Amino acid sequence: MCGIVGILGREPVAGQLLDALRRLEYRGYDSAGVATLEHGVLTRRRAEGKLRNLETRLAREPLDGTIGIGHTRWATHGKPTESNAHPHATDRLAVVHNGIIENFRELREELEKKGAKFGSETDTEVVAHLVTEEMKQGRSPMEAVKAALPRLRGAFALAFLFTGEEDLLIGARKGSPLAVGYGNGEMYLGSDAIALAPFTETISYLEDGDWAVVTRKGVEIHDAGGRIVERAVVKSNARAFQVDKGNYKHFMAKEIHEQPEVVGHTLAHYLDMNAERVALPMTLPFDFKKIDRVSISACGTAYYAGLVAKYWFERFARLPVEIDVASEFRYREAPFQPGNLAVFVSQSGETADTLATLRYAREQKQHVISIVNVETSTIARESDVVMPTLAGPEIGVASTKAFTCQLATLACLAIYAGRLRGVLTAEDERNLVRALVGVPRLMAEALRLEPEIEILARDLSKARDVLYLGRGTAYPLALEGALKLKEISYIHAEGYAAGELKHGPIALIDENMPVVIVAPYDKSARREGVFEKTVSNMQEVAARGGRIILITDPKGAAEAAATSVTTLVLPDMATTVTPLVYAIPVQLIAYHTAVNMGTDVDQPRNLAKSVTVE
Ligand code: G6P
Repeated sequence: MCGIVGILGREPVAGQLLDALRRLEYRGYDSAGVATLEHGVLTRRRAEGKLRNLETRLAREPLDGTIGIGHTRWATHGKPTESNAHPHATDRLAVVHNGIIENFRELREELEKKGAKFGSETDTEVVAHLVTEEMKQGRSPMEAVKAALPRLRGAFALAFLFTGEEDLLIGARKGSPLAVGYGNGEMYLGSDAIALAPFTETISYLEDGDWAVVTRKGVEIHDAGGRIVERAVVKSNARAFQVDKGNYKHFMAKEIHEQPEVVGHTLAHYLDMNAERVALPMTLPFDFKKIDRVSISACGTAYYAGLVAKYWFERFARLPVEIDVASEFRYREAPFQPGNLAVFVSQSGETADTLATLRYAREQKQHVISIVNVETSTIARESDVVMPTLAGPEIGVASTKAFTCQLATLACLAIYAGRLRGVLTAEDERNLVRALVGVPRLMAEALRLEPEIEILARDLSKARDVLYLGRGTAYPLALEGALKLKEISYIHAEGYAAGELKHGPIALIDENMPVVIVAPYDKSARREGVFEKTVSNMQEVAARGGRIILITDPKGAAEAAATSVTTLVLPDMATTVTPLVYAIPVQLIAYHTAVNMGTDVDQPRNLAKSVTVE
């Protein structure tokens, strides 16, 4: 997760760029850089490490351009060196980027064949060369960006500055956030309103797929289809608050939409994206080969993240997993073999039951890893190893982005264990990591289902009870879907393993009962037939008049076509990453149902964000 900024100013902008970068430093500080035009000529200053290094550099070698872009980096592809620092440039343009370009290898190969000379290991530099290549064909900067954007696969926000173009910046957003700021004869681009707060409070947030042509007179925004569109101009309150709702009605909506970004950030923390392998930034004080059982404990949504991880640890590392909600675990007096691993998952890091279980596991001489979103929390302080989820502050009481960041972290840990235990080959690991790298993009695609979900939520909000079904890793998602719905809409909901339908809940089904079925088509040979079994369960529901909402992929939708259902179709993806991506429609269903019912979405009745009593 990097921070980007662009300024079309009246005075030299280097100082303002630094000011904005200072406010974006929370997004990464591996290196920083700025580029401006000095009499039409692109000039860059970049420095490794924190922003103060760039400041020292600029004090020694000042820039006086009145247009410029800046970047503060959280390294994904390539080490945090000066040559990998943004902006990346050719003789025609400079670009800053936040996000991941997944197909950068193919693009780099293609561009190198055409003679492009690369100066960094980053995925970003392909963007600079790709647009340059288009310009060499005689295209204007705007046409060149327009032609290049559809070729980029991934989740990203970009800002371009062009040689000789003193009154032009181009920004683009897909998955990662980007805001346009309106000043008095000045215009801005920035990763968030906080970055632009010293200059302007008047902001437009680009929507996914938008790209913007910015001059000192204003902005022309194009959507993914190339149509010129208007985006709402809002007053940001970022000056007053470090954490604001941006363009969203609720924090929960904002946090759902932040997921491509924060999950990308979390993955970048635990993966070496160039080598396509897991690279934990911390040392584990035990040998995974000597562990013969993992215990996972947590509460609420964090518990469901742990339940997904059980499947992963067992599948990737052949490690048996014991999992329970924290309030039960500690009182069961479960036997622990000293020297095994206990994992605790908590957004707040303060949940009393989870903390008490952690202390119990410590007494039982377990190695303790905690996966927390608040690194200064008690659970973090009392653990042997802390694996932070980099979701940023989560304000909505119902957990959303923390959940998917917990999943991202747990997936990395399970894959790592699989490698060390000799279960996963380098090739297996590469395939799994590739699938994970694609998650931010897939999440951005999943968010596009929102208009459909808004419509079906109108109907759902009339229900008294809702059933959620899933198999495999979709089972914990069914549990999470039901939890989300009851937490914020107060509609009674139950999650069940699809196979358990016939053992009880089928008795509840009639024409008034909506049933949400979470069912990605499972491609793995070993679990062949799992999807068909879920389809049979679906038919059992349909035969009894139940209203079905099926969340699946194109293949699943085709196979389930016979039954009358409302289908939400997600892109095809590797089975491993389905829990991360399918979480999005599950969250959106709960969110829009609650909005329809007019409940207090961010602060639902009787609940608390951090539960510090047992
Ligand atoms: C509360 C929150 C849930 C959360 C659970 C566990 O019930 O409302 O959203 O999942 O606590 O909290 P933790 O901070 O430990 O993840």
